[in-house]
Amino acid sequence: MKYRQFIPEKLWFVVVGLAGLIAGSVLITSFNGTTYNSLLCTSRVADSNPTSTQLLAILHYATSRVVPQQSISEIRVSFDVLQSLSPCNFLVFGLGHDSLMWSSFNPRGTTLFLEEDPKWVQTVLKDAPNLHAHTVKYRTHLSEADDLIKSYKSEPNCLPDKAFLNGNTQCKLALTGLPDEVYDKEWDLIMIDAPRGYFAEAPGRMGAIFSAAVMARNRKGSGVTHVFLHDMDRRVEKMFAEEFLCKKYRVKAVGRLWHFEIPPAANVSSAIGGSSFC
Ligand SMILES: C[S@@+](CC[C@H](N)C(=O)[O-])C[C@H]1O[C@@H](n2cnc3c(N)ncnc32)[C@H](O)[C@@H]1O
Repeated sequence: MKYRQFIPEKLWFVVVGLAGLIAGSVLITSFNGTTYNSLLCTSRVADSNPTSTQLLAILHYATSRVVPQQSISEIRVSFDVLQSLSPCNFLVFGLGHDSLMWSSFNPRGTTLFLEEDPKWVQTVLKDAPNLHAHTVKYRTHLSEADDLIKSYKSEPNCLPDKAFLNGNTQCKLALTGLPDEVYDKEWDLIMIDAPRGYFAEAPGRMGAIFSAAVMARNRKGSGVTHVFLHDMDRRVEKMFAEEFLCKKYRVKAVGRLWHFEIPPAANVSSAIGGSSFC
């Protein structure tokens, strides 16, 4: 108890969470095959060992005083969804002190990070080479946010029924030129905690929010796309979330994190259609 006082609360949460995952894995593998098969499906038997990313995460968070910026209750929102969906496809905007944690919450799934700053990619990958990250160039600045939201409807390729991402240079909000993997996969979870959006020249999150909405609406598989958006105390994040991710799809608001569950457009029988994402 005395020792715990010296560990930041967030670090404690991460270490306990990861230790739980590993303890669970060890417990499960200690069952004989018959008993185990009666408890869980066979396909998960072979997958119960901790991954190298999980082990690296324990080592990292147990020995680092730098912890993720999201609060425990905010982290818990996506943690719970990952617990139910993993292994799954998890797209994360931004590399940070939380990256190893996100990746280890999705063992044997695909967790892909998109980062604006190539130097920061190198810095993070030096300590965590297991992470799967790409550098992304954004075509916007935060200072353009108001103009973009006023004018996007005059560009047909930005409209909900026509919008696409790969090569859609006419629509400035579409993230073009991402690695093919981003366009080819259907993302079960999308975490938007980047790019930076706290000064005028920063890219802002307008393109990431718009593109997450397009990916979610174009989903062909079953189920919804979970979109998590951080820094919801900021005007631009709120304005773009309400325009593209829609209040009606918001299922949680915890601290500065909003969680949306967006159904594929094909499943929505809406009288609105036309020019509205919501
Ligand atoms: C708002 S931060 C989110 C950080 C993340 N949630 C975390 O817990 O670390 C997003 C962006 O800030 C930048 N960034 C974060 N930490 C940084 C650092 N220590 N040095 C340089 N850039 C950093 C990166 O470009 C990153 O994509």
